[in-house]
Amino acid sequence: MNDAVVTRPFLKWAGNKYRLLDRIRPLMTEGGRLIEPFAGSCALFLNTHYRLNVLNDNNADLINIYISLQDEADAFIDYVEQFFVPKNNNETAYYRLRKQFNRTDDPYLKAALFIYMNRHGYNGLCRYNNSGGFNVPFGRYKRPYFPRQEMQLFAKKSQQARFTNESFLVAMKKARRGDLVYCDPPYVPLTRTANFTAYSAGGFGEAEQLALAEQAQKLAARGVTVIISNHDTPFTQAAYRDAVCTHFEVRRTISCNGAQRGYAGELLARYG
Ligand SMILES: C[S@@+](CC[C@H](N)C(=O)[O-])C[C@H]1O[C@@H](n2cnc3c(N)ncnc32)[C@H](O)[C@@H]1O
Repeated sequence: MNDAVVTRPFLKWAGNKYRLLDRIRPLMTEGGRLIEPFAGSCALFLNTHYRLNVLNDNNADLINIYISLQDEADAFIDYVEQFFVPKNNNETAYYRLRKQFNRTDDPYLKAALFIYMNRHGYNGLCRYNNSGGFNVPFGRYKRPYFPRQEMQLFAKKSQQARFTNESFLVAMKKARRGDLVYCDPPYVPLTRTANFTAYSAGGFGEAEQLALAEQAQKLAARGVTVIISNHDTPFTQAAYRDAVCTHFEVRRTISCNGAQRGYAGELLARYG
């Protein structure tokens, strides 16, 4: 895929789909709304043109940023830029600002600090401890990039979006005939030891994966098209047995250990 024609999300986000757009877009139907129950950095929304979009994620910090951008656009972007200065690019400043993020109730400040941490923290990870505190260590980047243009694009496009902070099943149940629901859940582990689901407090286990597949099937019976991304494993093949599946290989960007580096099987399951 030619990266030049792709709008990159302004946030670094594990599992973001901007490299898989050419696989997903041909499977999509048009006419209704685009609903993303696991929106993350919104790569698909940014690179499609639905008149109405419902973008949901159970990470409240993420949705808070999107609402700040939607409401305040350039004023918010200017505010965030104040944190992207050389004096904030060292361990002491990072941990002070991280502490401030974990203590404040001010949604505007919290949104700005999250973007600061996304670009100054280790690998752009988003990870919380058991008490819900953001706990990613300092990232040691020479010159962290400030994604002004990407945020401006997002702010403009967000005028055609509604953001919600609910669990995926609640978001899915709102779909109506003709809508396209794209589900990009935390992936099932490739092996029983690989267990990468640390997007937000609370896990996403087999029960949630099966509930997602069941809900997709129910929506399809009501005239909704549902597409699900996941690893291609015996578990997902069984879970999506009622869907039409496309199988392919992708380069892994998050490698857990030597044995799993390289290419991994991935699938797209389409219901309806
Ligand atoms: C693989 S990422 C989605 C990436 C996204 N497609 C992108 O392009 O950036 C999975 C997302 O699901 C969210 N998530 C995890 N559990 C969830 C749940 N129970 N309900 C809704 N969202 C959930 C995470 O916060 C994370 O943003």
